[in-house]
Amino acid sequence: MKKELGAANCLYPMPVTLVGALVDGKPNYITIAYVGIIDHGHVSLAMGKVHYTNDGIRENGTFSINLPSTSMVKEADYCGLVSGRKADKGALFETFFGVLETAPMIAGCPVNMECRLAQTIDMPRHDVFVGEVVASYCDEEVASENGVDFSKVDPILFAMYDKSYFRMGERFADAWSVGKALM
Ligand SMILES: Cc1cc2nc3c(=O)[nH]c(=O)nc-3n(C[C@H](O)[C@H](O)[C@H](O)COP(=O)(O)O)c2cc1C
Repeated sequence: MKKELGAANCLYPMPVTLVGALVDGKPNYITIAYVGIIDHGHVSLAMGKVHYTNDGIRENGTFSINLPSTSMVKEADYCGLVSGRKADKGALFETFFGVLETAPMIAGCPVNMECRLAQTIDMPRHDVFVGEVVASYCDEEVASENGVDFSKVDPILFAMYDKSYFRMGERFADAWSVGKALM
């Protein structure tokens, strides 16, 4: 038997990200879990129109996406509780800049991406920002031969309905490979 959930969005868990933008010339960071991958070079962020950060993304046409580790869960939660209108969230972190020069990134996050705004989709309550990934960085300690070892990143995962944070499980199979057993 199945339990009916109504029209519930069950697409969880999602990675918790800290999205950075310059707002009035100062770094601000917002917690965003409604992130998407469009293709290898493009990402999307669904950001409520009320948020302070949105103006900075529009103004500069740039933003960053930073992946915090579970050890940064308090900072990540705080950036989702408090608006940059009321507090200087940039002061929480050491900020660095890359090639775009206007996309502030968090040195303490093991993975960082800087993005150029490619398109904004106007949804009733959200701006969906589509970004072109221009450059990405990772700490030496989490680097692998092919890019990033996500088990070392130890990202924070989020589920809405019970408002919980989870951590990643273990790697258990090879993609585009394990299914060959059924061919
Ligand atoms: C775990 C978590 C995930 C969140 N994900 C989103 C999201 O995907 N989209 C969104 O619009 N707000 C999201 N929020 C809420 C914003 O982070 C929050 O309202 C923030 O304080 C806005 O910051 P700002 O006003 O400085 O831009 C999330 C909050 C938390 C705690």
